Order: sequence, then C-alpha cells, then structure tokens
Amino acid sequence: MTEPICLNNALSTFHDHWSPRIIASLNGQEVKLAKFQGAFDWHAHENEDELFLVIEGKFTMAFRDREVELKKGEMMVVPRGVEHRPMADAECHVLLFEPAGIVNTGNAVSSEKTNVAQWIKGTTPPSAPC
Ligand code: NI
Repeated sequence: MTEPICLNNALSTFHDHWSPRIIASLNGQEVKLAKFQGAFDWHAHENEDELFLVIEGKFTMAFRDREVELKKGEMMVVPRGVEHRPMADAECHVLLFEPAGIVNTGNAVSSEKTNVAQWIKGTTPPSAPC
C-alpha cells in the first residue's frame, strides 16, 4: 500500500487497448492505467465524472460540439452526463481516476470494448523498482 507504484512497469504488464487496469484504490475511487489506440465508442456516464491524465503520447477527446487534444503532462475531467469519445492515432498511455465499478462504455450499448477494469496481475508487480 505504501510502496511506490512504477507506472512504466505497470504499463509493461499489458498490451491491449481500451482495457484499463487498476493500480490503486482510495475512498471508493480507483486509479487505472489504459492504453488508447484507435477510436473508442461514443458514451456518457450518468453518475460519474472521469479524470484522464496523459502519461505518454497524445489523444483527442471528442465531444458532440468540439474536439480537445490532450498530450503528455495534460489532464482533463469529463463531467458526468457529457457524451465523449476518446481517439488516438498512435498508442497513448493514460491514467484514469474514477469511481470503482464504472463501466468504460458507460450508457452505450455493450460492444467488444466494454469491460470492467481488473487489477493488474502478472509477474511484474507494479511496485517493482522503476
Ligand atoms: Ni468515459
């Protein structure tokens, strides 16, 4: 719990896109890592705000009336109820902070991208030295 978590090591434990992994939880919320590439589904979350922080690369958050580019070192909060669609031309690494149990595709009809995040498992613990 009180060991450092190396984001790069945690990111190296998975390779699939649009499939967030949980690295920490606090106060009913979860910190996750995800790899974005391509276009996600349009969706909104009725009751949850979502934080996106870019660790590596860049992606575009599309809203119904505009698009916002987010690059390494930048973050945004998408308020509950607002339709959004993340898109990345090249692989982008993102830290997410949002309530536990949130479904990534929100209110959208389930697709192959729908999943509930799992804790990172594997041979490289996220707490290994960076
Ligand atoms: Ni979302």
